[in-house]
Amino acid sequence: MKRTAIGIVLATAIATFGSANAQEADPEKSILVFKTPWCGCCQVWADKMVEAGYTVETRDMNDLSLIKKQGGVTDELAGCHTSVIGGERKYVLEGHVPIEAVEKLMSEKPDVRGLAVPGMPQGSLGMGFDRNAQYNVYAYSDRSGEQPAVFLRMGQ
Ligand code: CU
Ligand code: CU
Repeated sequence: MKRTAIGIVLATAIATFGSANAQEADPEKSILVFKTPWCGCCQVWADKMVEAGYTVETRDMNDLSLIKKQGGVTDELAGCHTSVIGGERKYVLEGHVPIEAVEKLMSEKPDVRGLAVPGMPQGSLGMGFDRNAQYNVYAYSDRSGEQPAVFLRMGQ
């Protein structure tokens, strides 16, 4: 009987500890950024996401090709840094994805693998940020035969 009580106390303590940690960083607002150490625009993007209220962790890697492959990011979708955002399902955010697109993604939770801003369009978030810059945010899946679709048109 006594042993059971101690067991329960311990289990409760562990559970409380676990939830306290989870509260610190809401998974829906937690972003892990994989970037190369020499690319400054990735860091600017990460800083902008922090300013917008996201919890951001960055990991420097010399070669992101494996991360991109695991994230289903093809050469035509590739930007520079590759991020993941948590929540019930993890989404990939490839390149300079704007905050509006991240918010739309996390509120609508579409059945996609992630979003991508291919290349590094001038004026995108982290690349000078110009509200009038025109570029597309694509949503892509990793189901074969499915082409990336425009998720959000920026600057229009
Ligand atoms: Cu960049
Ligand atoms: Cu960069």
